[in-house]
Amino acid sequence: MLDAGGQYCHLITRKIRELGVYAEVRPSETPAAELVSARGIIISGGPSSVYDPDSPAVDPAIFSQGQAVLGICYGHQLMAHLLGGHVSKGEKGEFGLATLDLDSTTDPLFSGLSGQQQIWMSHRDVVAGVPDGFSVVGRTATCAAAAVAAPARNLYGVQFHPEVVHTTRGQELLANFVFRICCCEKDWDPSHRAPIIEQEIRDCVGARNVFFFVSGGVDSSVAFALSTRALGEARVRGVYVDTGLMREGETDFVRRLPGISVENAQEQFLTALAGVTDPEQKRHIIGEEFVKVQERVIESRRLLDEHWILGQGTIYPDTIESGGTAKAALIKTHHNRVAGIQKLMEAGRIVEPLKSLYKDEVREVGRELGLPAELLDRHPFPGPGLAIRCLCSDFDAPVRKTAEGWVAPVHSVGVQGDSRSYAPVLAIDRLDHAFATELINKLTEVNRVIAIVATHAPIAQMQVRACSLTARRLERLRTADAAVRRITHRSGFDHRIWQFPVVLIPLGTVDAPDSIVLRPVDSVDGMTAQSVGMPPALLDEISSELLAQEGIAGVFYDLTHKPPATIEWE
Ligand code: XMP
Repeated sequence: MLDAGGQYCHLITRKIRELGVYAEVRPSETPAAELVSARGIIISGGPSSVYDPDSPAVDPAIFSQGQAVLGICYGHQLMAHLLGGHVSKGEKGEFGLATLDLDSTTDPLFSGLSGQQQIWMSHRDVVAGVPDGFSVVGRTATCAAAAVAAPARNLYGVQFHPEVVHTTRGQELLANFVFRICCCEKDWDPSHRAPIIEQEIRDCVGARNVFFFVSGGVDSSVAFALSTRALGEARVRGVYVDTGLMREGETDFVRRLPGISVENAQEQFLTALAGVTDPEQKRHIIGEEFVKVQERVIESRRLLDEHWILGQGTIYPDTIESGGTAKAALIKTHHNRVAGIQKLMEAGRIVEPLKSLYKDEVREVGRELGLPAELLDRHPFPGPGLAIRCLCSDFDAPVRKTAEGWVAPVHSVGVQGDSRSYAPVLAIDRLDHAFATELINKLTEVNRVIAIVATHAPIAQMQVRACSLTARRLERLRTADAAVRRITHRSGFDHRIWQFPVVLIPLGTVDAPDSIVLRPVDSVDGMTAQSVGMPPALLDEISSELLAQEGIAGVFYDLTHKPPATIEWE
């Protein structure tokens, strides 16, 4: 998979692996000679135009090595451009669903797919003239060369994205490419990887021991378990930092895992966060304190001496810089700043057993190891923990009635394009996603719309009050989060969604100063997300339990998709 900078590069690779065929990502400029052992090559899409001065290129020799090549979107244009075709600069572009008219062809790439197909497009430039030896086999209303083929040379190009679900039969096209054209066999099965990975760990670690900072999440737990199997319990240590910002039962759960010790830093984190209300500052402080604890652990346990190397649960998307993973890289920056860890990395004293696997594959390996489903099927949980779900305020202010509802001066983070917004929320009295989307597009003052589910007092009597992160408020949130998790788990609702943040906001009354916002979302990778509705009976059960809790004045439901709101509120 040659990465031309598209956010879909990893998605294509994952789709190929799902077909049972191993694929890996390489930079687009990788010399052809380094690719000869591959059965086939796919060039990904990307945001560039072939006419941009620094646009990603490929080694043209890949087109004459006899290997099959499939260009997708930008990859399709680049292939046409390099082989003597013509790419014209598009003004308007074509984004979203389109209908592909595919010729009835005997070509193996399109086997079984002739006729009209729903596809998904995202491009500006188009291939206006195909290179010699190519023929156009599919087109849309605005794109004359949407699918091209040169079977004699084993070269293919599609303007649309076969890897996204909106291209209804895209997976069949990818299967045709790998099985019928590249003649690959199904031989990639992550559920049988454990023994191979264990051998890799033994080779890398040699006679030394390994230590991990485990988070209780899927990746570090699976990496830790694999290392224990590979080396024996005596040679693997895990340290879990208890920040005091974790969910109910989390630390006890981790404590029960063999070989893991808990470093209690609750006081340290709470003290550092006392009085702080700004979201970015909260995150920064948490990152800093984390670094201090890690340094302390490394120092006090003498983990820098030659007997130890560092284990990490890095997974494949984290190892490569591209559009789809830039966020992951960003999120992890504070871990990289730990000087001791930096030293170990520079000296190559690091083992990353999962670095060639995707998240789903890590789960497969975890299942093979017999790790509990309770661990493997967890929703993602942010590193800074409950701190970023416990909103603070440095002023008192009432809610304000508007034509659409009530503006509550609780500021939350949103995302518009590449920049972040920080704005109040609008509360409305009906749980209506379509209406909320209409409002969010119309109003500039707010970046989120929430529905009022149930309250002890009319919202008009509620107000936001100044407060920060206290042990009491954290406990309130922790109890609410645990209740929501228990009820949604029992009902099976948690399996239908990707993540379910429960957020505490400082909106309430004198007797009950806080409220809870429910934020169930569906997503593929967290980059975009849809707010998801829930069955009314389930919502009733949740809101009655939360309203019975000390200090809670109301229950709200976040109706906003991402963008323009982020999944988390901070
Ligand atoms: P947002 O709020 O940006 O979140 O839409 C997207 C995904 O990233 C998770 N997230 C984090 N994960 N450290 C993490 O490990 C963080 O600082 C962090 N912030 C957000 C969030 O839970 C969601 O899955």
